[in-house]
Amino acid sequence: MISFDKSERIFKLDTKNNSYIIGIYDQEYILNLYYGVKIPDCTNLFSRAFRPMTASFSPSNPHIGEGHFSVDVAPMEYSCNGNGDFRISALAVKNADGNNVTDVRYVSHKIYKGKPSLNGLPSVYLNSDDEADTLEILTEDKVTGVKATLIYTVFNDLDVITRSVKIENGSKHSVDLDRVFSACVDLPSMDFDLVTLFGRHAKERSREKRPLAHGLQGIASKRGSSSHTQNPFAALVRHGADEDSGDVYGFNFVYSGNFEFCAECDFSGTTRVLMGINPTDFCWHLEPGETFQTPEVVMVYTNGGVGEMSRIYHRLYINNLVRGRWKTEKRPLLINSWEAAYFDFDTDKLVSFAQRAKEAGMDMLVMDDGWFGVRNSDNCSLGDWYVNEKKLPGGLGELIRRVNDLGLKFGIWYEPEMISPDSDLFRAHPDWCVHVKNREPSIARHQYVLDVSRADVRENIFNQMYDVLSKYKIDYVKWDFNRNISEAGSALLPPERQGEFFHRFVLGTYELMDRLTKTFPDLLLENCSGGGGRFDPGMLCYSPQIWASDNTDPIERLTIQFGTSMCYPASTMGAHVSDSNRTGYETKGNVALWGTFGYELDPNKLTSDEREIVKKQVEEYHKYYDLIHYGDLYRISDPYFDHFRCSWSFVSLDKSEALATIVTMRRPEIPFFIFKFKGLDPDKYYECDYDGKIYSGSILMNAGINLTYRIDGTGDSMKIYLKEVRG
Ligand code: GLA
Repeated sequence: MISFDKSERIFKLDTKNNSYIIGIYDQEYILNLYYGVKIPDCTNLFSRAFRPMTASFSPSNPHIGEGHFSVDVAPMEYSCNGNGDFRISALAVKNADGNNVTDVRYVSHKIYKGKPSLNGLPSVYLNSDDEADTLEILTEDKVTGVKATLIYTVFNDLDVITRSVKIENGSKHSVDLDRVFSACVDLPSMDFDLVTLFGRHAKERSREKRPLAHGLQGIASKRGSSSHTQNPFAALVRHGADEDSGDVYGFNFVYSGNFEFCAECDFSGTTRVLMGINPTDFCWHLEPGETFQTPEVVMVYTNGGVGEMSRIYHRLYINNLVRGRWKTEKRPLLINSWEAAYFDFDTDKLVSFAQRAKEAGMDMLVMDDGWFGVRNSDNCSLGDWYVNEKKLPGGLGELIRRVNDLGLKFGIWYEPEMISPDSDLFRAHPDWCVHVKNREPSIARHQYVLDVSRADVRENIFNQMYDVLSKYKIDYVKWDFNRNISEAGSALLPPERQGEFFHRFVLGTYELMDRLTKTFPDLLLENCSGGGGRFDPGMLCYSPQIWASDNTDPIERLTIQFGTSMCYPASTMGAHVSDSNRTGYETKGNVALWGTFGYELDPNKLTSDEREIVKKQVEEYHKYYDLIHYGDLYRISDPYFDHFRCSWSFVSLDKSEALATIVTMRRPEIPFFIFKFKGLDPDKYYECDYDGKIYSGSILMNAGINLTYRIDGTGDSMKIYLKEVRG
């Protein structure tokens, strides 16, 4: 719900439990007056915003009062460069005169039901216009004629506000956008920890927490993808807040390329937060009349702690981000050939996997890397997307027929944005790889990046994929991206537009994915980037699930899955049981169940006992599917704090059932162990499958269940299922 008080010139943006308040001050300055728990009115909010109105060495506007207004100390809704606000700026435009002084102010606004889609960019969508309202504030720099429209969509039943910005060059000259962030939030405090998700290949999305300090702090990617090293997520967590209570502000960027999140705490103890496209290696040229749309930031505020922030993101992403057939339809339980065979397979071997998989009750065989060109290792053939008949005699048709005859679906692996120097495609089009003039492109995993900012390149790749996907019955594609981008440039862009390359690359990828999923609406797409190197909300708009990590060790997966769950729901997290040795199959299954679930092993090598465990896991996958995919996640014992036991649970939205999983990562010194549930209805009664007894939700959450010595060994795990008993 959005309202505008004409006399006070104040916008009030109300979600279910929050208010976000923007005021237009003298001479059309747009100020952020409040963001937090819902408040009933906006009385005297302007006076609260000034703390003070000016300060020594902060230039002020001589025409307001007695020179008592400085943008350097005001809570600016969209901060500009060079106008006297010395903090980080959201917008910097280099104008025709060569300077980059920028100063956009209020011109007009409109409020409407619904949410606009963002041209060429993935974004959160509405199922009905009644779900949210949108405010667009048009601003303009009167000197340069550059216009910025600040776009806010406010959800009525979820504590979510999305933000983006559209720039239009309204001048008679060309300009260059040096910085154009999607969101700027000025908070009147620096009493926060900054929580972010860092990592590396096979160790993605570990949490990191640091207290805010004066000056700049933040995270970024300039790798050409959202990256393993930092995820485009950050939260400000009030000191003293924890998993279950307290103020948390979450920011997640719906974008898969270079990003930056930064927080600056200034001398008056306030915090400015920016999130958007990384200005490093970015410069967008705008001719008169041209526009630029930024990607969107999803902001969540709650005073219910970090856990509640996560649940809000999860509900939003399940209902308003993931789309298409597989949003609601049960996903197939798959077995993937990668860790089972790597490049060493043929039709018979794959069919033998399928045979065993069928016996265990699985739904789909995925043939991973190695089926195309002459690819028997990772040193060739990317770009040559036609089947290797030496490996697969009779081609895909024969293989798929045999797999389908067993009653299994079939999936296949692609890496569409890459090209091997040793490929027919590269030999035919050496200028199709990402490169800059006179420099040899660096190599990673023996491959170059394909320049998908080019329409002709996209056309070629799409046609190659179309030839395969339209001819055969292929139900699933794993879309991989196994290196980052260096020597970034495109042979087709003129010099003044080379700074656009990284963003154009991402737009090109989005266009390809959009075209593919629209042409094949039944296809299930799973994203991947050397595991979870592109696990972001942008990708979730095309692929409802993303392979979370190449690390399939169940104990190491715990920190990865806990970190990922900060904002991404279980239904999006690719998680498989593999042959990684250290831990038993039961625990492997219990951990992978917190995700899309599947297998990544040679089923012929399983012992008969292990086969029985697998059969049971497949049954459990079906039994708990809805609870895990659509229920609320409660993180209970967090491997980030507790080095011995890790536990979490899913609770159905109506609180009639719950499933808790507990894993012993390391045998604890103290065996005494009471496990307490979270998120149940205290007044409901539940039958507990652990001991067959009936307990109230209140007892289960407060007194708990005694599990002393129950899962005491390293790598042990168990599940407890609760079902409401009525009457
Ligand atoms: C990446 C993926 C793996 C597998 C290989 C194939 O590393 O993360 O799951 O698909 O590529 O080369």
